[in-house]
Amino acid sequence: MSGALANRRVLVTAGPTYEDIDPVRFIGNRSSGKMGFAIAEAAAARGASVVLVAGPVSLATPAGVERVDVRSAAQMREAVLARLPVDVYISAAAVADYTPADTAEQKIKKGAGAMTLELVPTVDILAEVAAHGQRPHLVVGFAAETSDVGRNARGKLEAKGLDMIAANRVGVAGSGFESDDNALSVYWPGGARELGPGPKTRLAGELLDLVSLRLA
Ligand code: CTP
Repeated sequence: MSGALANRRVLVTAGPTYEDIDPVRFIGNRSSGKMGFAIAEAAAARGASVVLVAGPVSLATPAGVERVDVRSAAQMREAVLARLPVDVYISAAAVADYTPADTAEQKIKKGAGAMTLELVPTVDILAEVAAHGQRPHLVVGFAAETSDVGRNARGKLEAKGLDMIAANRVGVAGSGFESDDNALSVYWPGGARELGPGPKTRLAGELLDLVSLRLA
């Protein structure tokens, strides 16, 4: 296969995770999976062998991509760790930071008063991959921020031990979650690049070009 990522193994996560409360309820987040799917497609188009670990989304599998469907953060973690080693890990999924301490086997019945749900932290998959014994050559994270994008993203780059982070401002029109368009601020140690605004498919290609350059 020819292309900038020929003979490279690329592992991408995409979409939300759903954390079950009981058989009919879950805690989720607003992620369409479009950015991660576009990244998987762009990596395959550049000749990479691509595995896409997808949370619950209704999107078609990009051509030439091997897809693994998961639901929860714990399942996503298991699927990712089982796929190491790879050359590049791109963590585009909006992984839940908290999950219910217990999942009820039966539907929880309504009571008269208030209800309290105990949540426990999930494992940070991205930080775990970046510190793994089989660490990929390039570990790329995402950061969804509502303010102070640059400072927060650079903080995550350092705290999680990443090689690159793509930050997007969420909660504004024309970018982020359900939109087909996005704008990314990409940071790496010693550099930065603004991508977009533009279609997620185009930004995915531009991000993969940055990834290929950093790999080379
Ligand atoms: N991530 C992950 N596992 C988690 C939580 C997040 O792998 N349990 C990854 C996401 O895929 C993303 C990056 O971490 O690439 C940043 O996620 P984000 O929600 O922006 O940051 P957090 O580290 O969760 O920090 P905060 O929510 O406080 O901003």
